[in-house]
Amino acid sequence: MTAPMADNPIFAVAAKAQALRAQGANVITLAAGEPQAATSTVVVEAAVDAVRDPAMHHYGAAQGDPALRAIVADAISGNTHLAWEAEDIQIALGAKHALFLALQTLIEAGDEVLVALPGWPGHTEVVTAAGGTAVPVATDEGFRFSVQALEHCRTSHTRAVILSSPGNPTGAVHPAAHLRRIAHWAQRHGIWIISDDIYRAFDYTGTYQSLLRVAPQLRDRTVVVGGVSKEHAMTGWRIGWLAAPQDVIASARLHVSRTITHVPTVNQRAALAALGDTATPARAASDYRRRRALIVEELNAIDGIDCPLPDGGMFAFPDVSALLRDRGWTSSADLAAWLLDTAHLAVVPGEAFNAPGRIRVCFAVDDDTLITAIERLRTALAPTQHAMTAPQMEVAR
Ligand SMILES: Cc1ncc(COP(=O)(O)O)c(C=O)c1O
Repeated sequence: MTAPMADNPIFAVAAKAQALRAQGANVITLAAGEPQAATSTVVVEAAVDAVRDPAMHHYGAAQGDPALRAIVADAISGNTHLAWEAEDIQIALGAKHALFLALQTLIEAGDEVLVALPGWPGHTEVVTAAGGTAVPVATDEGFRFSVQALEHCRTSHTRAVILSSPGNPTGAVHPAAHLRRIAHWAQRHGIWIISDDIYRAFDYTGTYQSLLRVAPQLRDRTVVVGGVSKEHAMTGWRIGWLAAPQDVIASARLHVSRTITHVPTVNQRAALAALGDTATPARAASDYRRRRALIVEELNAIDGIDCPLPDGGMFAFPDVSALLRDRGWTSSADLAAWLLDTAHLAVVPGEAFNAPGRIRVCFAVDDDTLITAIERLRTALAPTQHAMTAPQMEVAR
């Protein structure tokens, strides 16, 4: 048996917050990488109808419901301006599973996959789970890949790069010019691009472009990954997909058939309803844009915190290194632990993303939660507070 993989550090924060809640603490979490909102009624009703439909009670197709694949293909056609058909799509148990399905096809033991640094730990995890080695590539000051940095990390074993735009935790969006340069580099070296489009709907500057819209010539070397988790507040429903050349889809289908048989039918019906609902992601994007402005302004008002305005996604990713120095903390894990214990506020320490001087703060929560969280932050980090020795603070709510 191979050695067990370390658990995702983001889940560790969530578990500690959960434990405090179980002891009766009123914990607010800005740590989860998911929308706090409930799934829309349209989707829930469709799922209830599906549960009542006997056709949903039996085995389905390994590749996924043809109707769901068709609507996914339409959406990706619209996004990439290329023609995609239902046969080009494999339905997966969430985008993470879709990433895994792509990687288990593309890589063999010893192959390397380039991932962003700082970046989402899940990318490293799926590469490892598929038997490869994730190689972190330092991103530029805007948290984007540069061709120089990619080239610096390229070896004869480099097989693919995972490009997530907007990204997690940085919110970085790769504009068309960047994508063009990366595409040119990948094409020159025969490197696959896995385009993780899970945060596609959350683009606040209008700079998002799909890789294949900019570089259609890469279609036979690109896997597009997406899902309903973030756009439709459906993280628990576990529906994602990949769109890829036929041999990748055939291999993914075989893997699904040999392991999970297929993705649950009822959940696929729910995702089908979600994809017919464009209002929900549009409303979420508009709410998040407002909340992003609020949290970034508030974070920047705290001494020792420097927070860039993210172009996309659901997270603020401030530099807290000056605050750590002022307070005598050695890492942002100390700050995160202190905030959780003292202010009952959960954020993810930057160490989870290989960025020790930062924290990740999710703003995909409702206005009341965000405002209360801000009050707690302000109080906890007011200049008169002294870290570690600070008394338990009273929180308003
Ligand atoms: C960049 C990125 N890709 C993929 C995923 C996984 O999405 P899903 O919940 O659909 O598996 C996440 C979840 O946090 C993510 O941040």
